[in-house]
Parts: sequence; C-alpha cells; structure tokens
Amino acid sequence: MPWSPVKLNSGHEMPTIAFGTWKLGNGDGPINQVDQAISVGFSHIDTAQAYRNEPEAGKAIRDSGLKRSEIFITTKYSGLNGLDIKTSIKNSLENLGVSYVDLYLIHHPRLAVPDIPTAWKEMEKLVEQGVVKSVGVSNFGVNDLAVLLASSKIPPAVNQILLHPYVYATQAPIIDYAKKHNIITEAYSALIPLTQRPGGPVDVPVKELSKKLNVAPEQVLLAWVKAKGAVAVSTSSKKDRLERYLDAGDIRAFLFAYSKITYDKSICPYDFYM
Ligand SMILES: NC(=O)c1ccc[n+]([C@@H]2O[C@H](COP(=O)([O-])OP(=O)(O)OC[C@H]3O[C@@H](n4cnc5c(N)ncnc54)[C@H](OP(=O)(O)O)[C@@H]3O)[C@@H](O)[C@H]2O)c1
Repeated sequence: MPWSPVKLNSGHEMPTIAFGTWKLGNGDGPINQVDQAISVGFSHIDTAQAYRNEPEAGKAIRDSGLKRSEIFITTKYSGLNGLDIKTSIKNSLENLGVSYVDLYLIHHPRLAVPDIPTAWKEMEKLVEQGVVKSVGVSNFGVNDLAVLLASSKIPPAVNQILLHPYVYATQAPIIDYAKKHNIITEAYSALIPLTQRPGGPVDVPVKELSKKLNVAPEQVLLAWVKAKGAVAVSTSSKKDRLERYLDAGDIRAFLFAYSKITYDKSICPYDFYM
C-alpha cells in the first residue's frame, strides 16, 4: 500500500493522499472527476463549503458503490454566506448526502469568529453529536494553534497548509509545532513549482530526481511531501496522472537513497533533499 493510512489523534484512520475539488466547478465535470479519482483508487475526498461543489462530490461518492466507511470525506467551514458553524455543517451534510463527515476543518483562522476558542467549542460539539468524526483546522500558524490548544477539550487532528519547496522554510515551524502536539500536517498546492513557477530553481533537483528515478516531476514533489511527514492533498483531471500520484507513495525510500546527491546550492537554495 503506497500511501498507508495515518492514525489521527482522534483515534480514526485517514488515507494519506486526498483528491481535492477546489476549482472543479459544478455539474457533470466535478462528478466525473471525483468518480475518476475514486475509480483509480483515491479513498479520501477533500472539499469545502467555499468550493461550492459538495453536492457534486457527494453524488460521485454515493454513486461509487463504496460503503460509507470505505471513503474518507473532508469538508471545511468556510464562513460561506456568513453562516455559523452549526448551520454550515448541516448544509454540508445535506449537500454531500451523508450523515457524517470524517474530517471537518475551519478553513482559515480569520473564520474562527468571534475568536478561536469560541469557534472551536462549536466544532467540538459536532464531534459530540456524531456528525463529524474528527475536527481540524487549515492555514493556522503557530500562534493560532497555540491559542486553540490552550482552550480545547478535543485537539485538532490536522492542520491543512500550503506546502511546497519554495515555502518550506516559512512553513517548517508550523509543521514542527504540529508534530510536537500530535497534529497531522496536510499539504495543499504542493505542485506549485510545476503549475505556477516553472523554470524556477526547484526544477533543478526535481528534474534530476525525475530522471534518476524514472518518475514524473509531480511524483517527485508528492514524494517530497510524504518525506516531510505530511499528507498530500492534490488533484488532477487526468486519469494517468492520478495513477502516478498514487504510485508516488512508493518513492520515499528512493528519495532518501538519493539524499546525498550533491547539487549546487546557488542554483537551488531551497530545501529539497532530506
Ligand atoms: N485548505 C486550503 O486553504 C486549500 C487551498 C488550496 C487547495 N486546497 C486543496 O488542495 C487541493 C489541490 O490544490 P491545488 O490544485 O492547488 O494543488 P496542486 O496539487 O498543487 O495542483 C494540482 C494541479 O497540478 C496540475 N499538474 C499536475 N502535474 C503537473 C505537471 N507535471 N505539469 C503541470 N501541471 C501539473 C494538475 O493539472 P491537470 O488537471 O492538468 O492534471 C492539477 O490541476 C484542492 O483541490 C483543495 O482540495 C486547500
């Protein structure tokens, strides 16, 4: 099993690679894409109120024929339409057509109103009511996590953050803090070196490893996420690419094997090799 599940501090297991529905829009497109992701082997779907396609994700999940227990659903409180947490989760469950979600995240600390401790109490109630198995946060910094932990009865199970080699130096303290407090880090937009910054210095080690290991560049970056101890949240419209994402779970050992490769730090000053 390339991407083995991780046990969260809530006691529940979570698949360590997720298929995300951000920017997939509405209608048959996202339904077909979620269906495609499930059919190639993804068992973790990451959506959010703000993505406005929970109904499409829910339809694909229900039509997949998988038992509810065989699919892990994450959605997020995004403060859509100014609704509170209690109303938003009710709407999300209706949209998704399920009786519970596996993981419910506060999408951003600015949405924790009137303050983090008060908003978190609302999240904890959802666990007690059984409509949410685990609760977590997204885009929280070290100070936000510290405020939360100081008042929480139930600690956040995950913190979903932006993570790719160009931002590793700034995100590392958040990852270290989370690790110390048994909070799993989820990495989104890990492929930004390919999608938004092609031609940048990180291309050098990515291309080198890609060639040496005979894998695609996106696989190198997802393996990098795994080697950093994070859970990958990615997406693709292409079946063969999704299959490669899943296969990337096996690459970690190879990355370590190549960790001693020397490269010119003036070309790529970013943390890449482990
Ligand atoms: N919590 C948050 O605030 C937050 C923020 C952003 C995202 N997310 C979550 O993370 C998920 C993924 O976000 P993301 O789309 O930014 O992630 P990403 O994993 O960085 O990028 C995915 C995109 O990379 C493209 N891609 C893959 N390999 C490529 C290559 N070799 N060359 C060029 N393009 C390549 C894919 O395009 P193709 O379709 O052409 O394969 C796909 O659209 C979202 O859907 C969402 O669930 C969460």
